[in-house]
Formats: sequence, structure tokens, C-alpha cells
Amino acid sequence: MKRRILLLPGDGIGPEVVREAKKVLEVVGKRYALQLEFREANLGGAAIDVEGTAYPASTRAAAREADAILLGAVGGPQWDSLPAAQRPERGLLAIRADLDLFCNLRPALLFPELAGASSLRAERVAGLDVLIVRELTGGIYFGEPRGISVREDGVREGINTDRYDENEIRRIGRLAFEAARKRGGRLCSVDKANVLEVTMLWREVMESLRPEFPDVSLSHMYVDNAAMQLVREPKQFDVIVTGNLFGDILSDTAAMLTGSIGMLPSASLNASSAGLYEPVHGSAPDIAGEDKANPLATILSAAMLMRYSLDESEAANDIERAVADVLSAGKRTGDIATNEAEEAVIGTRAMGDAVVSALSYEGE
Ligand code: IPM
Ligand code: MG
Repeated sequence: MKRRILLLPGDGIGPEVVREAKKVLEVVGKRYALQLEFREANLGGAAIDVEGTAYPASTRAAAREADAILLGAVGGPQWDSLPAAQRPERGLLAIRADLDLFCNLRPALLFPELAGASSLRAERVAGLDVLIVRELTGGIYFGEPRGISVREDGVREGINTDRYDENEIRRIGRLAFEAARKRGGRLCSVDKANVLEVTMLWREVMESLRPEFPDVSLSHMYVDNAAMQLVREPKQFDVIVTGNLFGDILSDTAAMLTGSIGMLPSASLNASSAGLYEPVHGSAPDIAGEDKANPLATILSAAMLMRYSLDESEAANDIERAVADVLSAGKRTGDIATNEAEEAVIGTRAMGDAVVSALSYEGE
């Protein structure tokens, strides 16, 4: 059976990190005889330059046909002056909406070797393993009305709308409960229910799911407190479920705890098994093309792709083990280097090669 993987390298460091992850996918694909078929399409700024729009029809067609999608990153200063509706980021939001990828999984896992690179003291983060479940196709990112307009009194006004209906909350809630059930059994729902009605409903619906999951303990936390707790005592969390905007912010915070945002993968899933996999980090235009980017977040996203869309958990485990091996061998890209004597700082390509050779299937 052919598995169609669509690569969307995107902008900035996107093409470099996707190239490395593709090498890794090819090696495990061969090992497990997976018949992977790669296609490539444009998204974001790259698509604007070639096809005039951030999510062109050609990309949409390829995305709808794919079994899984691997994305690099979108955005960059050269497109920053475009009107909001034409920016590269809109391409990313459009593909998430188009494929109904409402469930975004962002695991923040600390590799023991990187405890020294964390923004917190090593003992605070040792063993850290938090899963952030972010709602990805609703909330203030998509709510209408939105826009910037000139009011009757001549003053300009910007508007966005935070809205969720109970079905949207229930479906992400159920997946988060299920994820918690498979892990430590603790789910923390993050909201701002002391101020925002939309999140009062969020809390009510989360609470209403409790009887379906008697084996999961549910707690609630306001987002300001959650931000504080994440940098104070992050190990108190197992699974966090939250809306689109809070999830965006908290996942970057969680990323820093693990040493670098260059380490964090993500999976965006819909109700069927097709999914989009991307590193949590952005396009890092300042280091694009310099062979400095850390490809591990994208390589770990490729592992999630194997697990969730292709149902190849052994291949996923192999990739994750290879990444751990490379780190314990002291190989580091600049972002995760801590200047310890045993560490070797290497580039994007060399890091991808190191993961490939750590897979060491040769001679089997
Ligand atoms: C992310 C990114 C995106 C988001 C941007 C690039 C639109 O920050 O995936 O976290 O805000 O969702
Ligand atoms: Mg973000």
C-alpha cells in the first residue's frame, strides 16, 4: 500500500529542516517496507512568491489527497508588509481549517542530556513530560467579526472575536481526556473563566465530560496562573487542554523548559487519521540558509507522523530513540549547546546525518 506524504517546506529554515526529516523518513520507510511516496507543494511565503497566494489550489488538492503532511515553517520579514489576509501565516491557518485539523498535540519532553539547556534549573525540569492539547481551528484565530475598520467617528478600530460552540469544545475535550487516560491520568483545562464567557462555557463543557472518564482526574486553571505554574513547577502537569490562543502561548513557554524550541514537534489531527506534522518553532529567517537550524523538532514531528497517521509505532520509536542516541553522543546544534567539553556543535545537515546513522539498520 502506497502512503502519500506531502512535504510543505515553506519559508526560512523550513526547507532545511524538512530536507533532514525526509532523509530520516526514507530510511525508516525502507526498513519497514512502507512504500512512501513523497510529493512537495508550496505554502506560506514560498507559495505567495510562486503562485500569488499562501494556500494555493494546487497545494489544497495535494493536501486533501495526502495520507500525512510534513510542514517546515511559514513567514518572514519580506511578507510582513502585506495586508493581514494575504500574509504567509494565513496559509497555515487555511490548511488547518480546510482539513479540519482541530486537535493539536504538542508534547514537551525533556531529553535528560538537555537539562542544562533549559531556562530553568535542571532539578526543576528533570523528567519533564507534558502534553499540551491545543484546539486549533476555532477561538479567536477564526472568530468573526474580525478586521480593522474606520469607525463613524473616524477612529480606526481592530476587532477579533473569541468564540467556541459546545460541540467544538466537546470534541477537543474528549481527545484530551483520552490522551490523559493513556498517560498519567491527569488533565488540566486552562481557561480565563473568571472574565471571558467563551471560556466559562469551555469550563462547563469540560466538567460535563468528567463522568465519561472516571479514571482521569480533571482540574481547571486560569491561564495567567498556568503560565506562572509552567515556569514555577512544570512537573505538576501531565496533559493540558486549552483553546487556540492560550495553547499557542503556553506551548512556546513549555518549549523553552525543554532546552530549546528547536526540539518540539507537533501533530495536528482531524477526525480521520490524516494529519499535519510540524515543528512548534517558526521560520527563523535570521539563520535561514546557514545550516544552523536544529532539525530535531521536524524529525520528531516525522516520528509523530509515523505513529498517528501511518500507524507505524515501531518506526516512530526508532526515530525517537535515534534522536536520544545522537544527543547522548554529545551532538548539538547551536541552540541546544551548553558549552560542555563533551559536546560537538554541528550544523543542520550533520545533525540529520547523525540521526540517520543512529538508526543503524545497515547490516541487519
Ligand atoms: C504556531 C504558530 C502559528 C500559530 C502562526 C505561525 C500562525 O505560532 O503554530 O504556534 O499562531 O498557530
Ligand atoms: Mg506559536
